[in-house]
Amino acid sequence: MNYSKKIGEIGSKMLIFYPWNRRCISVLLMGLILILNSCRTKNKSIIESDFEHIGHQLSLAVSLADSNFIKVNPKSGRDPIIPRSISPEHKMIYVGTDDWCSGFFPGSLWYMYEYTKDPKWEEAAKKYTAMLEQEKNNKSTHDLGFMMYCSYGNGYRINKDSSYRKILLQTAMNLKSRYNPKLKVIRSWDFGSDVWQFPVIIDNMMNLELLFWAFRETRDSSYFNVALNHALTTKNNHFRADYSTYHVVDYDTITGHVRQKMTHQGYSDESAWARGQAWALYGYAMCYRETGRTEFLDQAKNVANFLNDHQNMPPDRIPYWDFNSPKIPDEPRDASAAAIIASALFDLCKSDAKNQGEYKKIGDKIIQNLSDNYLVPQNKLFGFILNHSTGSKPHHSEVDVPLSYADYYFLEALIRKSELDKNHGN
Ligand code: GLY
Repeated sequence: MNYSKKIGEIGSKMLIFYPWNRRCISVLLMGLILILNSCRTKNKSIIESDFEHIGHQLSLAVSLADSNFIKVNPKSGRDPIIPRSISPEHKMIYVGTDDWCSGFFPGSLWYMYEYTKDPKWEEAAKKYTAMLEQEKNNKSTHDLGFMMYCSYGNGYRINKDSSYRKILLQTAMNLKSRYNPKLKVIRSWDFGSDVWQFPVIIDNMMNLELLFWAFRETRDSSYFNVALNHALTTKNNHFRADYSTYHVVDYDTITGHVRQKMTHQGYSDESAWARGQAWALYGYAMCYRETGRTEFLDQAKNVANFLNDHQNMPPDRIPYWDFNSPKIPDEPRDASAAAIIASALFDLCKSDAKNQGEYKKIGDKIIQNLSDNYLVPQNKLFGFILNHSTGSKPHHSEVDVPLSYADYYFLEALIRKSELDKNHGN
């Protein structure tokens, strides 16, 4: 007997004679379609759907930046041409190439190109990277790593363009020139001589990656030694017993001693400014990757534990702007710190086999929560990707807004996550 034919006949009789059954079946079918759709969205993965969304946002950001560029029409100098944030008047904030944030927008475009392989992102990345070329002559800030390694560095990693290599090596030399051999640290800021003699901020750890890169490229050990010594000195002087970090340590250039430990962007000198902790975690995870020295891995693990165990870390793992800010939970969050932490944790996964499961779980949770609750809706807020970051609350500057570095590290975290997921067959 042909059973499928028989079942088909019974089915069509039921449909003909019992219209309520027809309704039941169409409800069931609709349910099935919804379940299949949600499975497909799930199968699409959070990374794919985030990148699809980010593509829309960055397209808008590029077209706005392009028209701003035409309007500003910079002939030379450092006119505001690179997107950074949004002002209280709800205007886009563009900055010059000497701003510490100038590398993040081109860097995000490189990540977009790396993930999608779409030449339109490469074209945009090249265009906004080229705008920074004059900073190869800049010796006035430690932020050269942020500015040039996020832009030219990613471009070189992807395209191996020798002109990028030259620019990066010149920048690395300029960054190295800020090193004081007596203090064994790189000077962060040149401003504020009324307050500091030789200020070093925890953020400076991030700029060491450019020096490690220069060592790998040239085999000139001075790059390696400067970065290594800076990381060791910072490990000794910036951290408290609980592995939270001070923001600023000021050195006496004559005696070599620490003059003062304080904050600039945190709630108080003794508080744990969220982004500072994020820079510390990322910085030491990167230093372990570059040097293989276990004291750096231990430092990164200890900072990760401080963050994970902190009573003021919210369940969604998006930190308040400072772990000791007094009005928690009525304080702004800092999505940029969360994105930096996620990216660093994914980096640590490759270094620390024993704890990688735990780091991956927390990193994934951060990505999930940023994706669910912090993404800027499509075509809103000038094409930024993440909302609710805090630049500098004590200065009432950039509080609860999008920031280009939150977007950059979010993209980096997504790419790092996609590599880990691929290797683990997720
Ligand atoms: N490097 C400056 C900041 O984290 O705000």
